[in-house]
Amino acid sequence: MQQDMIIILDLGTHEVSRVARAVRSIGVYSEIYPHDITEDQLNAIPNVKGVIICGGPNNVIDGETIFAGDHVYKLPNLVIDHATQQKKQDIDALPECDEELVALLKPFVFETCKAEANWNMKNFVADQIELVRKQVGDKKVLLALSGGVDSSVVAALLVKAIGDQLYCVHVNHGLMRKGESEQVIEVFQNQLKANLVYVDASERFLTKLEGVADPEQKRKIIGAEFIRVFEEEARKLTEVSLLAQGTIYPDIVESGTKTAKMVKSHHNVGGLPEDMQFELVEPLKFLFKDEVRECGIELGLPGDMVYRQPFPGPGLGVRCLGAITMDRLTAVRESDAILREEFANAGLDKKVWQYFTAVPDFKSVGVRDNARCFDYPVIIRAVNTVDAMTATIERIDYDVLEKITRRILNEVPGVNRVLYDLSPKPTATIEWE
Ligand code: XMP
Repeated sequence: MQQDMIIILDLGTHEVSRVARAVRSIGVYSEIYPHDITEDQLNAIPNVKGVIICGGPNNVIDGETIFAGDHVYKLPNLVIDHATQQKKQDIDALPECDEELVALLKPFVFETCKAEANWNMKNFVADQIELVRKQVGDKKVLLALSGGVDSSVVAALLVKAIGDQLYCVHVNHGLMRKGESEQVIEVFQNQLKANLVYVDASERFLTKLEGVADPEQKRKIIGAEFIRVFEEEARKLTEVSLLAQGTIYPDIVESGTKTAKMVKSHHNVGGLPEDMQFELVEPLKFLFKDEVRECGIELGLPGDMVYRQPFPGPGLGVRCLGAITMDRLTAVRESDAILREEFANAGLDKKVWQYFTAVPDFKSVGVRDNARCFDYPVIIRAVNTVDAMTATIERIDYDVLEKITRRILNEVPGVNRVLYDLSPKPTATIEWE
C-alpha cells in the first residue's frame, strides 16, 4: 500500500465524515471505523499512523455509554469531545469552520503521527488495482453499467485492474437521455475495449409502461423490469461469481452501520433472486462523490461523463408525465438535449446543480404558420441544492431562457409553449413525478 492512514473512530457524532474529509484535504488518507473496532481489526489495516477519537451526543447505545478499547490508545491519538474512561480529552468540540478544523488537525497528523501527505488519486488507483486483483484472482466480475458517474468510474477502474475478466451490462430502458447509451458504447467498448453487453430493452420497457399514468406504478415497473433484464443477462454469463458495485463512502457512512462488512448486504443489488449470490467488489466504497469524479479523471474518462448532473434511475420516464407516449418522450429527450447544450454554452452547467425538462400530458392551443395548433408544453426546471432534501431555483438570465425557448419551439416537434418552473422544494419536489 502506498498511503499513510489516519483512523477516525465514531463514538457518536454526525461529524465523522467532516473530520475524515478534513484529514484527506491535507493529503493524508483517512477511514471511518466504529467505536468497537477490535485490536485484530485495527492491526489488519495497513499504514495506520494515528487515530482521531470523535465523541458526540449519540454516545449511548442501549443505555450504555460507549468507549474505545484500550488498544486504540496505544496509537498516537487525538480525543475530541469524549469523556473517556482514560479521563483524557484533547478538544471539547469541533470548530464549525472547516479551515479552523484543518488548522487544528494539522499538527496532530504531521507532528504527532508523523504521517506523510501521500494521499492522491494516482496512489489510490494503484492501491485499488492491487486490492481488486488480489480479491478477484482469475474469476469473472459482472457490473451493471448505467453510464452514471459511479458505475462508469468502477468500470474504468476494473478494466485497468482485470481487463476482460470484467463483464459490463448496459441496459438501455429506452428512457435514457439523448446520446447517453451511445456514449457508454463509445467509451467502454470502443475506447477502453471492455467486454460490454449492450441490451436494448426499450421496447420491452415501453410496452410494460403502456397506459400506466400513476407515478409510483411507473417507478415500480421500471425498477422491477430493470432487475429482470439484468438478471437474464447475468444468467447467460454462467462463470461470473463476483458483482461489482459503485457503492461510495456516503452510502456506507450514512447508512448508520460503519463497518464495510455489515454494509455490504445493504448495498446488494436489491431484488436479485437468492440463488444468484455474488461476492461484491466495491472499489469506490471509501471515496466521497467529488473524489469519485477525480478518480474518473485520473482513469481518463471524459469530463462530461464524470461531471454530469444527477439523473434518476427511472430516467426520462418520470419527466414524460403521466402515461408515456413516444411523441412526448421524444419531446422530453430533444428539449433536454437543447437545454443541456445551451446551459453549457452559458457556463451554467458548472453552476447549476440539476436542470432538465418535463413534458406534461395535456395540450394547449397555439398558433403556428398562421394556423391554429394544439400541442404540448415543455417545462424547464433548474435547481440548486446541497443534499437534494430542499432546493432553490436558479435565477436564469432572460436572454438564455429566451434562446432556449426559441430553440425548443423551432426544433422540437409537437411543442408550442415553454414554461419555467419557479417552485422551490418544498413544496415541489425536484422531479415532477
Ligand atoms: P426529488 O424529486 O425527490 O428528487 O426532489 C431528489 C433528487 O433525487 C433524484 N431522484 C432519483 N435518483 N433514483 C435516483 O437515483 C430515483 O428513483 C430518483 N428519483 C429522484 C432527483 O433527480 C433529484 O436529484
